[in-house]
Amino acid sequence: MSVHIQAKKGEIAEAVLMPGDPLRAKWIAETFFEDAFLYNSVRGMYGYTGTYKGKKVSVQASGMGIPSALIYCNELITDYGAKKLIRVGSAGSYQKNLKVNEVVIAMAASSNSGFNRAKFSHADFAPTADFELFMKAVKYAEENQIKFRAGNVFSSDVFYEDDPLEYEKWAKYGVLCVEMETAGLYTIAARHKVQALSVLTISDSLVTGEHLPAKDREQSFSRMVEIALATI
Ligand code: ADE
Repeated sequence: MSVHIQAKKGEIAEAVLMPGDPLRAKWIAETFFEDAFLYNSVRGMYGYTGTYKGKKVSVQASGMGIPSALIYCNELITDYGAKKLIRVGSAGSYQKNLKVNEVVIAMAASSNSGFNRAKFSHADFAPTADFELFMKAVKYAEENQIKFRAGNVFSSDVFYEDDPLEYEKWAKYGVLCVEMETAGLYTIAARHKVQALSVLTISDSLVTGEHLPAKDREQSFSRMVEIALATI
């Protein structure tokens, strides 16, 4: 067992899907995996392993925000030998023409998080997706007529901003949407020479204020998980 994961050695696959929400991890295992078993429930941060189309695969909840996500990424990589980490999560749109339900494949992640500033002595590191995983995700989405956008996303440390128009400065530079983990995931993957990708579903819009109704969530999240599973 590692500090936050109670799995035995060998119980976690090299490819791990990472939703923020533990109940989404459970739903992914029950909906997409065969022979799934629960390997972690420490702090309610569920982790399951099963198979998908005959390949061993795991899903591990990461919690919200870079500090929580990096605890799980770190332990998956250094204690359990994970080689491919694929985030599947929700995001808020920064662009008028990027609507709820649409999928975003994150090429890179900007951030207001301080975690890289100290590490790189106030110079900028550009957290970037793994090219092979990115191309596989794009190919699957194109071949299956899944509408998606690819580009820069924003990993924020703040869900509730004082200024509701704070997002506009990032939107002007083409940043597609906001979530809270990808910049950390891409940085730790680079550090440990493993592959990482974030596939996101737009659940709300900072431009229009709309939210994805709960009844539509399952279908749009399914498309995102299918894309993620196509990369393993
Ligand atoms: N994830 C989904 N919507 C979000 C938002 N508006 N801000 C940060 N993370 C999000």
